[in-house]
Parts: sequence; structure tokens; C-alpha cells
Amino acid sequence: MHGNDVSDAVARRINSEDLKHFNDWFDAYVKTFASDDPEVQMNINLKYQHTRRVCRAAVEIASDLGLAGPDLCLAETAALFHDVGRFEQFWRYRTFSDKRSVNHAAFGVGILRSNDVLLRLNETERILILKSVAFHNQAVLSEGLDGRCLLHARLLRDADKLDIWRVATDYYRQRASGTINAGLELNLPDTPGISPEVHESLINGQTVLFENLRNLNDFKLLQVGWAYDINFVPTLQRLKDRGYLEDLKSFLPDCSEVHEVFAAVTNHINSRLNS
Ligand SMILES: [Fe+2]
Repeated sequence: MHGNDVSDAVARRINSEDLKHFNDWFDAYVKTFASDDPEVQMNINLKYQHTRRVCRAAVEIASDLGLAGPDLCLAETAALFHDVGRFEQFWRYRTFSDKRSVNHAAFGVGILRSNDVLLRLNETERILILKSVAFHNQAVLSEGLDGRCLLHARLLRDADKLDIWRVATDYYRQRASGTINAGLELNLPDTPGISPEVHESLINGQTVLFENLRNLNDFKLLQVGWAYDINFVPTLQRLKDRGYLEDLKSFLPDCSEVHEVFAAVTNHINSRLNS
């Protein structure tokens, strides 16, 4: 990991001009997926707006953590590119389900590489962005990342989840009034009840695995369980302030299993916020 330190000591570091260049590239790239099909265009817009809000969240959380200068630029750049694979994924496969198509994170890394998007950065910064993008959707973050890479990978995962909670709760509200977007539900059936494996994981303080999802309630609970996978207190504070979990609860069955899950998750959040 120290192989690049000598060259990077003299290398230019990421700055606001790079960010401007990346933002322009990203906007032009997304425009190439403009579609006459309203379903495609709606989903492209959804991911574009999600990306913009993840950028904002990443910068806010990074600032709360005391990051500044190049680290703020890196946090914003990783956020900008984290879902770059989503556009071609939807355009090609008409789904955001990685299981039914491709791993959108690895796919995004391939897009950044084949378009030489990050070549203007020094190698350390370039690798940091690519790793953060590659690992942002892992169920459990890989071990073996070094200090600064680990920080940025964690930061991106927090910022992404914070905005997915917003997208998901907005969507469940809209769904209740009849507008269904199968792409956002991973094409899971909206059947009653919750799966025992999902309940079991969550009351034991563990996140839910995609392979255990059987219906839409399970998926909502997987999103509830992300609270266990939040890395930084400023993110948890925002989760609490914005009331996303209460919102999710209102879209789940009013049964003892669901109450137990929320008791466990709330307890976890409050103990981290109060420590
Ligand atoms: Fe993603």
C-alpha cells in the first residue's frame, strides 16, 4: 500500500476543478440514456436524483467527521460515481435487481475504467474511488481496506443508505396510493407476513441477507436492518432526525415480530447515540 507514497507526495491532489470535470462528465453520461419509454426515463431520473442527494449526504457526513480539502472532494466524487453502473443496468436489463442482471457496483467500476474517467487523478486517489464504488453494495464490507480507503468506503455506504431510506419511504407512500414501480421492489411479491430468518437476524442485531428475502415485507425489513450497518454517529443522528424508521414501520404489518424488530433496532441506535 505504500508503493505510491513517493510519487503521490509530489502528485497533484484532487480539487474542485476535478469535481467540476466529473460532474460535467456524469451529467453528459446520464443524458446518453434519455429514453422515450416513460418507465425507463423515470428510473434513470430516480437514480440521477439519488446520486445528487448521496453527494450532498456524503459531504455533510464527511464535514461532521472533520474531513476537509481533498478528502471532501474524494467523498463527493465517490458518491457521484457510486451508482454509475445503474443507468446501463436499467437500460439493458430493465431492473435494478443485481441478482437478475449484473452487480451494478462492479459494472460501474468497469464503466469508469473503460471511459478513462479518473485518469486525471493520482493513483492513490483513483484506487480509493474505485474501491469505494466497488464495495458500496456489499452485504458486509470486505476486510483488508487500509485506513483512508476504509474511511471513504464506510462514508459512502452510510451516505447511500441514508438516501435509500428516503427513496424507499417516499416510494412506499406513493405505492400506498396505487403507483407501483416493480423495479424498486426487486420484483418481490407483496404477500402477507415476514420470513422467520429475517425476523431472527434482526432481533439478533444482524443485517438481513438478500438471499433470505421472500416478499416485499422482508425487503422493507432488510432496509430497517441497515441501521446495524451504519458506520458513523452523524449518519445515525440523521436517520433518527428524519424519522425514516418510523415511516418504514408504518408500511409493515402491525404484528409482534415487527414490534420486536423495531425495539431491537431502536435500542441499538439509541445506545450508539448516547455513548
Ligand atoms: Fe448502488
